[in-house]
Amino acid sequence: MYGVKLLSMGKAVPVRHMTNDELTQFVDTSDEWIKSRTGIEKRHISTGETTTDLAINAAKEALERSGIDPRQIGLIVVATITGDYIMPSTACQVQAAIGAENATAFDIAAACSGFLYGAKLATDAVRVGSCEYALVIGAEVLSKTVDWEDRSTCVLFGDGAGAAIFQKHHKNNIINIYTQSNGGLSECLTLPSIPLKNCCVEQETRSPYMFMDGRAVYKFATTVVPMSIQRVLEGTSYTLDDIKYFILHQANARIMDSVAKKLEVPTDKFFKNLHEYGNTSSASIPMALYDLQEELKPGDPIVLCGFGGGVTWGSMLLVWE
Ligand code: UT7
Repeated sequence: MYGVKLLSMGKAVPVRHMTNDELTQFVDTSDEWIKSRTGIEKRHISTGETTTDLAINAAKEALERSGIDPRQIGLIVVATITGDYIMPSTACQVQAAIGAENATAFDIAAACSGFLYGAKLATDAVRVGSCEYALVIGAEVLSKTVDWEDRSTCVLFGDGAGAAIFQKHHKNNIINIYTQSNGGLSECLTLPSIPLKNCCVEQETRSPYMFMDGRAVYKFATTVVPMSIQRVLEGTSYTLDDIKYFILHQANARIMDSVAKKLEVPTDKFFKNLHEYGNTSSASIPMALYDLQEELKPGDPIVLCGFGGGVTWGSMLLVWE
């Protein structure tokens, strides 16, 4: 078994930045409601940038910062629920765009936990020696999946991508990763794919948009996240007090405050950038870690925690280098 290090990161967002006030043109909402219920102030919305474009741009930045040759990358995992194609995968399109000709590339769908699921696969692969470098990307254009007449969802989400390159290393910085799912709760957060419409069935019977039972997801998140964070620390030499920052999936500032309270951890240890980006699903954790980079010092222990549709969740304990 080898050690694994987080080598470099990249981020990409669409150019268009949309404020809460601008959303009042589409739905009956207010800056006050959105800010007080979620903490979101703005989000980036695609005016043509695709999920693939964002994934490629984030990957290119991570690659540039890594200093490695793209042909050294052995694995590319893209976590997305908004790929431009079901086939080819977004990961294969990234592979072609960056020239990672020796990689195995595929997408995974684990919604807002997607980056952590991808990171688990990638770091496991590096750890056992299947590859030396693995690229994991969370990329979403969620603005194409929401009903812009449904105020309960369209105000929450934004578009963006974050990328990370993991490297085989003599030291191990990825201390622990843990993921889990509960398909029994799947109906609280859904996004349909291609509807059944063929020579036998003519009627489309379901809405094409994202559905979220916000209260049910809130309850799930505030229950599972503290448990998930404690679980990833179990069996390690780290305690909650040792952790410099917690980066949760950026869904709602109130979820972070509730988790901080349950764990009895100061809220300022919970990094937030959702005021700028809204909820970007699988992209939110790598985008947040990217934005926090400047403040991190070598040796800082950090916990990442994702939760979302499926339902899925997971946490990573890493030591910044
Ligand atoms: O990324 C996947 C994970 N997702 C999450 O973690 C989301 C978890 N859930 C949440 O963050 C919260 O449940 C929401 C932010 C989605 C909603 O907040 P809430 O405090 O649970 O509000 P609610 O759904 O209970 O709605 C309260 C009221 C309702 O009106 P009535 O029935 O009380 O008259 C809604 O119709 O707020 C109304 N409402 C709005 N009002 C203004 C819902 N959306 C809006 C809106 N603007 N955009």
